[in-house]
Formats: sequence, structure tokens, C-alpha cells
Amino acid sequence: MSDADAARTAAEAFAERFGRQPEGVWAAPGRVNVIGEHTDYNGGFVLPVALPHTTRAAVARRADGVLALASVQHPGEDVEVPVADLAPGRPGGWAGYPAGVVHALADHAAGGLSVLVDGDVPSGAGLSSSAALSCSVALAVRDLLGLDLDADALVDVARRAENDFVGAPTGVLDQSASVLCTAGHALFFDTRDGTREQVPLDLAAAGLALLVVDTGTTHDHAEGGYRDRRRECEEAAARLGVPLLREVDDVTALDALDDGTPEGAVRLRRARHVVTEDARVLEVVAALREDADPRAVGPVLTAGHVSLRDDFEVSVPLVDACVDAALAAGAHGARMVGGGFGGSVVALVDAAAVDAVGAAVTERFAREAAPAPRTFVVVPSAGARRLA
Ligand code: GLA
Repeated sequence: MSDADAARTAAEAFAERFGRQPEGVWAAPGRVNVIGEHTDYNGGFVLPVALPHTTRAAVARRADGVLALASVQHPGEDVEVPVADLAPGRPGGWAGYPAGVVHALADHAAGGLSVLVDGDVPSGAGLSSSAALSCSVALAVRDLLGLDLDADALVDVARRAENDFVGAPTGVLDQSASVLCTAGHALFFDTRDGTREQVPLDLAAAGLALLVVDTGTTHDHAEGGYRDRRRECEEAAARLGVPLLREVDDVTALDALDDGTPEGAVRLRRARHVVTEDARVLEVVAALREDADPRAVGPVLTAGHVSLRDDFEVSVPLVDACVDAALAAGAHGARMVGGGFGGSVVALVDAAAVDAVGAAVTERFAREAAPAPRTFVVVPSAGARRLA
């Protein structure tokens, strides 16, 4: 859908729900991470691209101090709550994300807001539909209320909404990607100090495509292994005497983690994933910068998957089967994306082989008695923006 069509559709839904026109419509995308998984909360590197799929927020100010929230994707789950009554966890559900943003900016938003969201980022697919929602509303509130917030501050507002209000222990990858990505580029982002570089990524020119497979298996960050992995990484860093695993760049330094106990062996594997994953991000960025054959990136992606599967242990059998099927059908590389425990796979494939790889994966799912996955090709798209 074009930005103009998306803006019109959201404005119409707003008018139907609230009986007036919105003052504007804003959009923020989901993301797929090319490489750099579970590095963000360790101060490491990430390399996401923005999806063409976005969440749109149509917003208008009110004068009665009420926050009114409605979502096209969650009919019958409208929320109306005085801004002054917002508190972590109240409201919950989908409304927690926009409410968390308004809560973070409540000093400025006391007059109230009406917010209607509409979007097409697959949810529960590891493609950051939550960040798209938070970031679209954060940008809308900033613009409408004329707040002096730069891009980094916006990212921080969206992250705090998710961490402190919703209670999802995410790092900063998803919100950074949604706000900072630009069309035609991957965002090389250093989560330790926020430095960034837009790396041109024109795979079509090289006859390649990034194929995303939404496996349809759901993940659960809030209470799943994500929290455990964060803790294990913090423990490993503490034992090594560094504030963050990012500070370690020599894997042999990790041997000290293995004290002969089963816990020590786990700690070593977790830390080894993080340290080698940071190195893989640098390897991919170097390949793209040097204008080398981007096919060389493929094996690095696959190595990232093996590390997430065996060392970090955040993959699941259906996701592994999906990666294997893509590689067997000729993908140059494939890996799970996002937090893990289900979600999506990204594969680097020849443009001419997109259909064949998609068919092979679908056939493999049928053999596994799993519902057919959804596949699409990602063109690196724009970050958060005002549409109307
Ligand atoms: C989820 C989190 C991110 C990041 C990834 C793993 O998407 O929200 O902050 O930790 O998992 O790379």
C-alpha cells in the first residue's frame, strides 16, 4: 500500500471511530535484522533494515484529559483512560504500547489524545510489530505537541514504553531500527554509544533478494527464555569483570567462564554467541562496504544461525527446519531473526530463485505437518515518518 493510501485509510478509520478528522497520520516500520542478534543488550552491534510494512497512527489532541485508543487490528478492544491514571501495566494488551508512550510523555500530554492505529506488520513474527506501534505513536505525539525530542530521544521513549510500562525486557534494536533506518540501506548501529552508519544495500542490483519466512510459530519475550538469556549474559560479563560482553573481542578470554560446572559450560556458550555475533556484524558490514560480492554474506548469516541454535539455544525445530530447507534449495545463507523461540527466518537468495526457495520451504512445512508459512521479499524501506 502506498503511503498516501495508508494515510487515507487510517484517517477514515479515525473519523469513523472519533467523529472528526485526525490532525495528522504518522507511520513506523517493522524490521528484519540482517545480522547481530542478542547483541543489543550486551552493548554490541546490529544491522537491521526497515520493512515496507508499517503501523500507522492517526492522532488528534483532546481537551478532556483522556487518552482514547482504538486499533483496526483489535476491534472491540478500545480503551479510554484519563492520562493522569496511566500506570505501568494499566492498560495492558495492545493498548499498553501507545499508553506507555503517552505515559512517558505525560507531562506534555495532560490534555489528552485520540489515537487510532492501523497496520500490516505481522505480529508475533519476530518482525517488531510492537516497536512499529510504539514508534509511530511516539513520533505522532512529538510532532503534534511540538516536543523537542531528537531521534535518539524518540527511540528512548519507545523503549521505555516497552520496558517500563508493558514490562517487555527488550533491548534497543527494534526501536532504533524503526526510527533510524532509511530506504535502500541497512542501519549499522553500535548500541554501546549510539553511533550509526547507513550502509547501502541494493541487493536487487546484484541479482539477490532477502526472503523473509514467517514460520507462524509464536514467541514470548515477556516471560520466555529472553529474560534468562539477558541474565546469563550479565552473569558472564560480571565474571569476566567487564560491564558488557561487548568489551570482549577475543573468544579465548571466555575460557575462564567454564569452571567445570554445567552452569559454567552454559555461560561459556552464551557469551561465545554474543562475542562471535559482534564479529559477524563487522564481517558483513565490511563485505557490504567494500562492494564485494554480497553472496559472501550468506555463509556468515548461516553461521549466525548455528550459533543461535547451538550456543544461545533460542531456536526451535520448525525454525531450524526452515533454515535447512532454504539452504538445501539454494539459499546463500539463512538464519532466524529476532529474539527467537519461533518467529521468522531471513534468507539471502538469488532473485531468480525466490519462488523455488519459497516452494521448498512450504513443502518442508507440509512434511512437518505445520501450517504453510507466509513468505515475502524485503526491500530496505524508510524509517518512521509523517504521512499526512
Ligand atoms: C528482540 C528484542 C531486541 C533484541 C532481539 C534479539 O527482538 O526486542 O531488543 O534483543 O530480540 O536480537
